[in-house]
Amino acid sequence: MMDSELKDTRKHYVQKLFSNIAHNYDRLNGIISFGFHHQWRKFAISKAQLIPGNLILDLCSGTADFAICAAKENEGIRVIGLDFCDEMLEIGKEKIKKIGLSDRIELKKASLPATSIQGFRESHSVRVCDSIDSKICLLFKENTFDVVTIGFGLRHLNISGIFNEVERVLKPEGRLITLDAAKPTGLVMKGLHRIYFYRILPLLGRIFHGDKEPYNYLPKSLDLYLPDKEGLKKLMEKAGFVEVQYFNLLGGVATVHLGFKNG
Ligand SMILES: C[S@@+](CC[C@H](N)C(=O)[O-])C[C@H]1O[C@@H](n2cnc3c(N)ncnc32)[C@H](O)[C@@H]1O
Repeated sequence: MMDSELKDTRKHYVQKLFSNIAHNYDRLNGIISFGFHHQWRKFAISKAQLIPGNLILDLCSGTADFAICAAKENEGIRVIGLDFCDEMLEIGKEKIKKIGLSDRIELKKASLPATSIQGFRESHSVRVCDSIDSKICLLFKENTFDVVTIGFGLRHLNISGIFNEVERVLKPEGRLITLDAAKPTGLVMKGLHRIYFYRILPLLGRIFHGDKEPYNYLPKSLDLYLPDKEGLKKLMEKAGFVEVQYFNLLGGVATVHLGFKNG
């Protein structure tokens, strides 16, 4: 199989995986993180230094928890969320409507041809060609966003490709914030994490979702496609971000990375 076919297969696998788990995603997210993911999101968004008028791009937005967290943090900001999975987006849209944030959060399907985002200026018209391959592109104009967030989505993307694009679409001094699972380094946490992540998590998937396959893939994809914390920091710096730092959460089982576009 050619490299491009492999990437296409993986992209479709990931899309299908999230279609399948969408209706259970929020519930399982709560269970497998013991509810900590809400705190982690809040912490990550606190690093964005949001001010009224800021425009945020939330990539791999899924059911919109990150977008909602940002919109709640500051009433004067707007968020565009992108994702390629209809089922995840539908649930996100319902949640946004229910809590009355539809005027400030717009969820869009990635990989669509040019479309205009309702309520946003023409310069924010978007055509997203978003995939794991190296031709990743966010068809937004350069210097558009104040903040870009990516929650638990990096491993599904071409990380260097997306960092370059994020750097382009951010305004000078704009912030990139990523939140993702990570591997702890301390001996005890490392051992506990291995047991939990590779044995208990797939089991929880089977109990609560009825199928352990997706929750087998998620830990595997961490090994295969997500660099370690220092590696991720280096990739951000390579894409031009400055003052890059990361914060370990809960003994290092999750990490927030923060970087600034040069002013
Ligand atoms: C683990 S979920 C994270 C959702 C959300 N950001 C959160 O923090 O809960 C990953 C999301 O990335 C999306 N995704 C994966 N690869 C993508 C791609 N190439 N383009 C757009 N969305 C993608 C999936 O559809 C899924 O909704």
